[in-house]
Amino acid sequence: ICLESVMMQFCGNKLDKKDFFGKSDPFLVFYRSNEDGTFTICHKTEVVKNTLNPVWQAFKIPVRALCNGDYDRTIKIECYDWERDGSHDFIGEFSTSYRELSRGQSQFNVYEVINPKKKGKKKKYLNSGTVTLLSFLVDIEVTFLDYIKGGTQINFTVAIDFTASNGNPAQPTSLHYMSPYQMNAYAMALKAVGEIIQDYDSDKMFPALGFGAKLPPDGRVSHEFALNGNPQNPYCAGIDGVMEAYYQSLKSVCLYGPTNFSPVINHVARYAASVNDGSQYFVLLIITDGVISDMAQTKESIVNASCLPMSIIIVGVGPAEFDAMIELDGDEVRISSRGRYAERDIVQFVPFRDYIDRTGNHILSMARLAKDVLAEIPDQFLSYMRTRGIKPLPAPPPYTPPGYPTQI
Ligand SMILES: *[C@@H]1O[C@H](CO)[C@@H](O)[C@H](O)[C@H]1NC(C)=O
Ligand SMILES: *[C@@H]1O[C@H](CO)[C@@H](O)[C@H](O)[C@H]1NC(C)=O
Repeated sequence: ICLESVMMQFCGNKLDKKDFFGKSDPFLVFYRSNEDGTFTICHKTEVVKNTLNPVWQAFKIPVRALCNGDYDRTIKIECYDWERDGSHDFIGEFSTSYRELSRGQSQFNVYEVINPKKKGKKKKYLNSGTVTLLSFLVDIEVTFLDYIKGGTQINFTVAIDFTASNGNPAQPTSLHYMSPYQMNAYAMALKAVGEIIQDYDSDKMFPALGFGAKLPPDGRVSHEFALNGNPQNPYCAGIDGVMEAYYQSLKSVCLYGPTNFSPVINHVARYAASVNDGSQYFVLLIITDGVISDMAQTKESIVNASCLPMSIIIVGVGPAEFDAMIELDGDEVRISSRGRYAERDIVQFVPFRDYIDRTGNHILSMARLAKDVLAEIPDQFLSYMRTRGIKPLPAPPPYTPPGYPTQI
């Protein structure tokens, strides 16, 4: 696969005036040609209002989208005058190829914009203006895996909701139902999602936290306790270790409340704040019934954490309305708190019930769950690395056993 992208910028010169009042509102449409001679739109520029000499913003496009990786394939570009009602006026067109464009700004990349109809009619018709390539920059896309191979470690922390809204663990209706015969909703979600993320964790040691319970011996409410009962060393060995610690906690703590996310987010953020060289990236997995009590605080913690090497995956269990979780996900509206916006999207929400059958006992598609749980992590990760200018380190050379002759 071709992971190259190009960044290009174009300007127009003396384009035809189309509007009765004012000049033109030009924009460009790029087409990739297909094997069968048809064309597919692959990019549209923005409209520059009321000018015959527009300078369009630079844009980035994957080479795959532009020419399917074929440097000599025709790329057709049409120029239009934008109309409010959508009946855009055709100004003219020209074609080129990746190979031509790659010569950069030069006499080869000044294109006459031709309107074939006018050319046929008017003897003196020369062109409908020109379009010039101002810059052409190739950008090899680095991937999430390039960083992992280069040594970046992913640190997954698990946090489990132990609040009373989940129901009494002695009752079968509880999402934390303790039964020797079946897994409860939390255990199922933890096991399924844990097995997915386990593969990405370097050492498979997971710090695991609980929140919203009263702890023994004194019944104090905690919003960030170690599931294994050891705050100095909250690590559990693999997802099986987390499961074991979860069952232990369930026996010893008392589900309580309120449901505060902010303390566990801040807990991981404290560690994430101490790493800024790209050597580690933190992912907090919160499993919850979604009934959140500290929405304002949580938003602020997320906005605070959005500048750190950190992502949050929220898995919602049970039948509740997940509106608040969807809001935290921030795919529709970027999260903000007291007028401050998150620097980037760091939250991914996954409603677990969408992946289990009607009896609630079987996962319908582990592959689909895996895909959706991890869907946004690589982009969130890359957006952090990119804005910090952190490049992946070269992968270490493959290991050669000692005493084995190295080939020259
Ligand atoms: C991973 O993150 C947790 C905080 O959630 C922290 O306790 C632990 O020390 C981190 N691990 C490493 C290797 O930094
Ligand atoms: C967010 O960061 C500010 C500034 O560091 C801090 O004062 C505030 O307490 C943080 N908010 C939360 C909810 O932790």
